[in-house]
Amino acid sequence: MLEIKNLVKHFDKVKALEDINLTVQKGEKIVIIGPSGCGKSTLLRCINLLETPTSGIIKYRDVETKKYKRDVLCQKIGMIFQNYNLFNHLTIIKNITLAPIKLKIMTKEEAYKKAMKMLKLMKLEDKAGNYPRELSGGEKQRVAIIRSLILSPEIILLDEPTGALDPENIKDVLEILKDIAKDGMTMIVVTHEMNFAREFADRVEFMDKGMIVEEGTSKAIFDHPKNERLKEFLNKIKS
Ligand SMILES: Nc1ncnc2c1ncn2[C@@H]1O[C@H](COP(=O)(O)OP(=O)(O)O)[C@@H](O)[C@H]1O
Ligand SMILES: [Mg+2]
Repeated sequence: MLEIKNLVKHFDKVKALEDINLTVQKGEKIVIIGPSGCGKSTLLRCINLLETPTSGIIKYRDVETKKYKRDVLCQKIGMIFQNYNLFNHLTIIKNITLAPIKLKIMTKEEAYKKAMKMLKLMKLEDKAGNYPRELSGGEKQRVAIIRSLILSPEIILLDEPTGALDPENIKDVLEILKDIAKDGMTMIVVTHEMNFAREFADRVEFMDKGMIVEEGTSKAIFDHPKNERLKEFLNKIKS
């Protein structure tokens, strides 16, 4: 589904990514962990064409991502950010329906109908006419998730989706992510929620200094870490 080979991304002198290799199969749940600044966001942003790699190859369905039109790729590979990235000047319903209408995936009527159905599922139907500033963080993140899912993506990338939320909202959003996962979605999640990571991941990737230094099942990574920097990272997180 997704194949990353020898990916390198430098910002002038900052070596954000050094030789990343990662293959993701359909339906896999990948969790990426690692210290701040190790390149997690940059990796997701390169996958979604938000950054241009310095070198290396990223393929989605055997075609290099750079050969896709950005609109088309972003429909197939959705992204959810820590700070929601909603359009603050648009109502919730407009935020959700903008892309499917613009991309001509749905008529306006179809988009509104589907959006209302999804809002209802997430218990947000009474917020359709509100603006993002009138919603809590957890509500905003649920809207961002709906906005991504309405395009029927094949992969979703989540960059610390609960990073800006309080504990109660964190739980809600993590439950929603588990539900989405159950439906077979291919997901790549950057998170600091280690209990969630352990339960959720088919495979955990530990990044440090722009590289994947250890990968394995949650059991292998959390119960039997080998790399010294991974051990150190897990100890720090526990304390
Ligand atoms: N647009 C940018 N310009 C310059 N440096 C950047 C930019 N984006 C990220 N970096 C640098 O790249 C490194 C990796 O950043 P990032 O991918 O955001 O790490 P993480 O998400 O793991 O915290 C950091 O040193 C960061 O300062
Ligand atoms: Mg980041």
